[in-house]
Amino acid sequence: MSKEKDRRSVLITAGPTREAIDPVRYITNHSSGKMGYAIAEAFLEKGFTVVLVSGPVTLSLTHPELTTIAVHSADEMYDACRPYFPTVQIAVFAAAVADYKPAEVHTEKMKKSGNELSLQLVKNVDIAFEFGRVKQAGQVSVGFALETNDEEQNALKKLDTKNLDMVILNSVQDQGATFGYDTNKVTIINRDLLGRTFPLKSKKEVGKDIADAAISYANHQHT
Ligand code: CTP
Ligand code: CA
Repeated sequence: MSKEKDRRSVLITAGPTREAIDPVRYITNHSSGKMGYAIAEAFLEKGFTVVLVSGPVTLSLTHPELTTIAVHSADEMYDACRPYFPTVQIAVFAAAVADYKPAEVHTEKMKKSGNELSLQLVKNVDIAFEFGRVKQAGQVSVGFALETNDEEQNALKKLDTKNLDMVILNSVQDQGATFGYDTNKVTIINRDLLGRTFPLKSKKEVGKDIADAAISYANHQHT
């Protein structure tokens, strides 16, 4: 990154997205947002300016150096990130973005009729992928990979496809990790293919490990 004033700033996506079916119904997932918020806290403690673009969660965080933007859908999340991405040194894609959204959003509540209902879904924007395409030299991006099988292979594929510098591998086979828990167990893999597996820790501690790894990677790139 060329502009010195942009150093020590981070954009973080967090939480689930909510994809409307009609005015009273939606598709979502179990993400609590705890991991993304813990990462935001860790960067704030390191003196970073943080923009947190968050799907619907029950968490809240306030800090003079924090801007939180509340969104619902993947499209809203992407639009909220767009003005900030080019200005930040680091981006962390921690949101559990819904991969698909209803092809059509009904403007009125759908009435019950018949014994079966099919919903047509279409692919959502892949936020990490889109920003990976426009990432500038010196910008560092971090993504997550939640996997149940062929974990490392799938995580490396995401690192490559989305042009990430670092991927945080979450294995759902680990007890006490992922959705809703206060703890998580991750493997951090960076572009140099150096992997480091951390023990089961509180999400707050994992947030610090992720922030430390991203900052040290970013500093390493600048020297
Ligand atoms: N991601 C994103 N936008 C999407 C989907 C995913 O920004 N529409 C980001 C996530 O925040 C995460 C990374 O991409 O950092 C990987 O998400 P994941 O769901 O594991 O991977 P997908 O590419 O969606 O593939 P799949 O769900 O099939 O494993
Ligand atoms: Ca996905």
